[in-house]
Amino acid sequence: MSEFTLKIRRYLPESGEAAYWQDYRVDLDGHRSVLEGILTAKADQDGTIGIRCSCRAAICGSCGVRINGRAALACKTHLDEAAEGSQAGDGEIVVEPMGNMPVIKDLIVDMDAVHWKKIQRVTPWLLPDGPPPEREYVVPHEAMVDVTQSMACIQCGACVSDCLSMEVDPEFVGPAALAKAYRFVGDPRDGQHEERLHDLAEDPAGLYDCTHCFNCIEACPKGVAPMNQIMRLRRAAGDDYEIDDRNNGNRHERAFTSLVRDNGLLWEAELLPRSYGGDSFFGKFAPAAGLELADSLPSITRALLRRKVTPMGALRPHKIPKEDLAQIKHIFDKIDGRDERFELNLYIAGEELEGDADIPVETEGSSA
Ligand code: FES
Repeated sequence: MSEFTLKIRRYLPESGEAAYWQDYRVDLDGHRSVLEGILTAKADQDGTIGIRCSCRAAICGSCGVRINGRAALACKTHLDEAAEGSQAGDGEIVVEPMGNMPVIKDLIVDMDAVHWKKIQRVTPWLLPDGPPPEREYVVPHEAMVDVTQSMACIQCGACVSDCLSMEVDPEFVGPAALAKAYRFVGDPRDGQHEERLHDLAEDPAGLYDCTHCFNCIEACPKGVAPMNQIMRLRRAAGDDYEIDDRNNGNRHERAFTSLVRDNGLLWEAELLPRSYGGDSFFGKFAPAAGLELADSLPSITRALLRRKVTPMGALRPHKIPKEDLAQIKHIFDKIDGRDERFELNLYIAGEELEGDADIPVETEGSSA
């Protein structure tokens, strides 16, 4: 048994009082969970602590909180690990409600107000075409492997809590809902793939609002890797259905890729013209690019003044050794030369076979 200090954020909106921190000391084995620590404090010291939980086994998804600043399931986090990860380095375990959602009381957030509203936004059920079969739908096993990762979601809201895009733009559909959308876009029984992708690509707060911060991947306790599901949606929208959205998301992504292919590294000054005007020289004169450039001038000026970029550094492409550039082009050629796109997920596990160096191999817990 060891003594652990839980620093819990307390808040009762109706009281009119500001939120405050309260410390509780609990004696428990280090392998016990943070949830058990909180419940022990609640049972022995202060029955007013508000926490939501049910299964205590990382299945129901109801005990999502922030532990030491990161979203996690309280029942899946060991006390000793949490104490080791203490931000102040003093072993104190800081527990607060998840982010990006209004607080109802103490550690309980309003999932309806944000998380479930966004899940509903993506029509979270199958929309099959035509009359249903007389008996059940028969789906080949391989066809479902692709969506198993998104199906592993337990709707705990951890990814929503730590999503930086949502913090800046609360309208963003968000990682959990977009991962849910992929569950249906990847399902062969669904007959509305293109319509779903159109809808999410054209929404200014949709597919292309994710900024690839990776926070959702780190926060997810089930390895769903929501950002990877968002990238799958983008590949399906851009490559399979050739949707050039009005947000310029698809063209922007293509510009990134072509700049890396041509120069080995991103060439920032060329990104904007290519995003609007394609790879041609005349892309530079696309009117929309000029407008966005004018819009971005304050940020560019700030970056120059703070010496984050130099004019020459920005205007010339980065140089990398010739042989490295050849390697990068080789990777592009190889991927572009494939007849089919591979979408891997955490349920594909195995060893790389000798002589099969081209076959991507993934181990459990990782993703493409
Ligand atoms: Fe069910 Fe933690 S109590 S996931």
